[in-house]
Amino acid sequence: MTRIVGTNVPRKEGPSKLLGVARYVDDITMPGMLHGATVRSTIARGRVTSIAFASHIPWHEFTIATADDIPGRNLVPMFLEDQPLLAKETINHPHEPILLLAHPERERLAAAVAAVQITYEATPAIFTIEDSVARTQTIWGEDNTFKKFHLEHGPVDEAFATADLIVEGEYSTGAQEQLYIETNGVIAEATPESVTVWGSLQCPFYVHRALKVIFNLPDEGVRVVQTETGGAFGGKEEFPSVLAGHAALLALKSGRPVKMIYDRAEDMAATTKRHPSRTRHRTAVSRDGKLLAADIEVVIDGGAYATLSPTVCSRATIHAAGPYQWPAVRVRSCAVATNTPPSGAFRGFGAPQSLFAMERHMDKIARAVGLTPEELRRRNFIRAGGTTSTGQTIHQPIDLDALLNRALEVSGYHEKTERFTRDNAGSPIKRGIGFATFMHGAGFTGSGERYLNSLVGLEATPEGRVHVLVSSAEFGQGTNTILAQIAAEALNADYALIDVAQPDTGVVPNSGPTVASRTAMIVGGLVERAAQGMIETLRLAGFLAEDYAPAEFAPAVRAYVEQFGELKSFHRYESPGNIFWDDQAYMGDAYPTYAWAVYVAEVAVDTTTYTPTVTRFDALQEVGKVLHPILAAGQIEGGVAQGIGYALYEKCVWRDGAMINNGMTNYIMPTSADLPPIHVHFAEIPFEGGAFGAKGIGELPMDGPAPAILNAIENALGIPFHHIPLMPEDIFEAMTETAC
Ligand code: MOS
Repeated sequence: MTRIVGTNVPRKEGPSKLLGVARYVDDITMPGMLHGATVRSTIARGRVTSIAFASHIPWHEFTIATADDIPGRNLVPMFLEDQPLLAKETINHPHEPILLLAHPERERLAAAVAAVQITYEATPAIFTIEDSVARTQTIWGEDNTFKKFHLEHGPVDEAFATADLIVEGEYSTGAQEQLYIETNGVIAEATPESVTVWGSLQCPFYVHRALKVIFNLPDEGVRVVQTETGGAFGGKEEFPSVLAGHAALLALKSGRPVKMIYDRAEDMAATTKRHPSRTRHRTAVSRDGKLLAADIEVVIDGGAYATLSPTVCSRATIHAAGPYQWPAVRVRSCAVATNTPPSGAFRGFGAPQSLFAMERHMDKIARAVGLTPEELRRRNFIRAGGTTSTGQTIHQPIDLDALLNRALEVSGYHEKTERFTRDNAGSPIKRGIGFATFMHGAGFTGSGERYLNSLVGLEATPEGRVHVLVSSAEFGQGTNTILAQIAAEALNADYALIDVAQPDTGVVPNSGPTVASRTAMIVGGLVERAAQGMIETLRLAGFLAEDYAPAEFAPAVRAYVEQFGELKSFHRYESPGNIFWDDQAYMGDAYPTYAWAVYVAEVAVDTTTYTPTVTRFDALQEVGKVLHPILAAGQIEGGVAQGIGYALYEKCVWRDGAMINNGMTNYIMPTSADLPPIHVHFAEIPFEGGAFGAKGIGELPMDGPAPAILNAIENALGIPFHHIPLMPEDIFEAMTETAC
């Protein structure tokens, strides 16, 4: 039995947010501080031929920085070293940063940015996956391809040669903006010997590494501090390295602190979004609905530079075949270049794209073989002891049949399927219900956690409190609360005694980035072990008995610190001996474990206005031990809301590679008035590899809503849709076509 884990303790950062004392980066000012702004390209591809400064601006008041001012490498350091911090001559996408300006008065910047006159020689650009794959223009490397994967096992071609049935389908997804409430922002201070950045970000050590390269500094020359962060969703995973580099460059050139905060329009137009995708399925099926072989091709649009596209592509690949037992499977995938601003990390990280395709395709296969969507899935679910598409054996006692039973029961699926069919006849409102079954890997892929080699620490204070030292960042998802719960539980101490230190690379060890649904499971697990180490120390020194009450912990710590001066405990990640991954073959244990889910969507389509509405949503998931029920449910509700937006509302409109609806009035995300009741249900199978049995939960809820909703819309209208976002005009077109 746990005391604190599994209960709804108050959020650690709750009071400071509630009282308005939490300080976001734009709340911070420094003496002599300047404000920075970015001058960006207005063309998608070409060359800068001249830069002139209009004479009506007093330029001597401004600090101006270009690529020539960079002391180290002009690079945004990522896997593939292709993206410059500032374009020098070559332009590869609209809104590419070319030049930076700083001034003491923020209000003076817009006019100055507009007064920098850049002329270009434009070259033909490409904006779609189709053009990139066809190499209408070669814009990156030899073949526009950042990364390819090919995973294959079993007799794929033989299965297709002998199958009763082959079902094919093509599915595509659009870009999606993360739309965190707080836009990207940082403050930087710099000298030739040191750079310090405070900012709204997910991964302090990613920014730390980037700044070392850009400013040619050693580890100790760079310090990165995460300030209170108003949402991130992946959008502050890699992008803050760009902004931190820009602000620090202006700070170095001016000798003053420089603040750069994007407004919403700039944030939406110039920073990363979810990768658009196209997925093709060919499936060999037997007459009785057994999946015999998958042949899947996934292409994601990475934009002009590679950023994290190789990793996003990897996740899309690994999740592409869904939670099914395939005798033979082939997944080929690639991330390709287009002349749009780089795509990047966004909650789900490739899996929402490929799982949308798989789960829409399952309903198509069901129709083709004459089974219900439910029965087709039951005949093919992966089971405990079965293997995933990467050949990973599922050791956990997962029972997807039972999960499906429960989800269909709590959502009233069977009763509604019948009732809706009956009531739809003659009604302008067509109702439908559909579902998706899926999984999401928790933690870094393959050998990723071993490379990260994360380290966490606990440090006691003379007052008997304990600080959790991690680089994991709170940005609204509850990191500080759950890590404090885990520490309090493992220390058998009061929750109120635990604080999580502000992520400051000068203070905390590198516990890895706050991404990949890894914080609760992986970092939490390390915190649990570090706590055990601290107890061990207190016991060996005679300050704690074998058994002790929570009230005895703080006095023991105080006594220890008084005698020995300090009390710290660190724990470093150790790879569980039973995880094997082959990076070449892309086979093996892709993740320490998976979370599993069945999501059921109920929709109503108004055939007068062609407007689809989600009227109820049931989200059932098995996520290991639930550490904090309210926060966990909040994660699911938020993910489902984002998934509903992804499916039905959020459409990026592009012109020549630039997003032109880059405002919250014309990029429409669902508001609370658009959202249905979201019923969240958990099944808990504690995972021995995670903190108190927890698995990852952050990304999972992004994967299921879109296919469940489009499955429900097909159920309502009898029309299959294969692309998201699905807009009323798409439904109008399809329905009027059908009518003719
Ligand atoms: Mo993420 S999309 O793992 O920040």
